[in-house]
Formats: sequence, structure tokens, C-alpha cells
Amino acid sequence: TPAATFYDEVGGAETFRRLVAHFYASVRQDPVLEPLYPPDEWEAAEERLRGFLVQYWGGPRTYSEQRGHPRLRMRHAPFAIGPAERDAWLANMRAAVDSLQLTPAQDRTLWDYLRMAAHSMQNR
Ligand code: HEM
Repeated sequence: TPAATFYDEVGGAETFRRLVAHFYASVRQDPVLEPLYPPDEWEAAEERLRGFLVQYWGGPRTYSEQRGHPRLRMRHAPFAIGPAERDAWLANMRAAVDSLQLTPAQDRTLWDYLRMAAHSMQNR
């Protein structure tokens, strides 16, 4: 049997559902980030980010079945992401990760990736 994935280890679909629901609930209230997001697409945006993270950490590959190759830097090019937007994204994500109450090692694994990814998405 294959080794358990990080996705399984942290609790599978329900954990990623909670993470991304918490994240977008606060992004919708964030004065820096809210204006960047296409209006009336919050549920679809939540589904895309959740699907991407689930796939990245070893869960079902639904994201790529629906969206193709992630190409995240390219997909973020239309949005002006400078240091302020990057840091606001990370602050909202930090609170969402805190809400999961992972073990310290799991928290570090997830957070190191998210920090690296957010820095690589900066395009201004
Ligand atoms: C999409 C902003 C970082 C993953 C989006 C969208 C915006 C946005 C405005 C469009 C909403 C949508 O239609 O889905 C930002 C900002 C970031 C950031 C301001 C700050 C650095 C990240 C990071 C990841 C990520 C670090 C991954 C770890 C995604 C995904 C999508 C998305 C998967 C949907 C792509 C698609 O399939 O179209 N982001 N993002 N974003 N973002 Fe980010």
C-alpha cells in the first residue's frame, strides 16, 4: 500500500474544505484583497483554490481534470500582486492555517509551502 499522503495525514477533504472556507471568508472582508477578486465568483474561487491544494498535497486530481495544468504564475498575471497584496494574502492564510490546529510539524510543512508560493506569485 502506498505511504499516506500529507493530504490524508492532516484529515483529507474536510481539512482542506475548512482551510479554504476560513481563508475566503476573511479575504472577502479584506480591504486590500477584496477588490482584486472577480465579483460574484467567491464560491467558484473557493472551489479552485481548494481543488488545487487538495491535488498538490496528494488528494484527488479534480483540479487538473477541470482546469488543466495549474500554471499559477500565468493565471495570476492579470492581478497586480505587490508586497502589500502578498502579505495580506499570507496574513489571511496564516489565520486560516491556525484554525486547523495541526501538529507543529504539519503546520510547518504547510506554511513553508504557502509562504514560498505566495512569494513566487508576486508580480509587481
Ligand atoms: C486564483 C489572488 C496567491 C492559488 C486567484 C485569483 C486571485 C488571486 C484574485 C482569481 C480568483 C479566481 O478566479 O479563482 C492571489 C493573491 C495572492 C495569491 C493576491 C498573493 C500572493 C496564491 C497562492 C496560491 C494561489 C500562493 C497557491 C498556493 C490560486 C489558484 C487560483 C487562484 C489555484 C485559481 C486558478 C484557476 O484555476 O483559475 N488568486 N493569489 N494563489 N489562486 Fe491566487
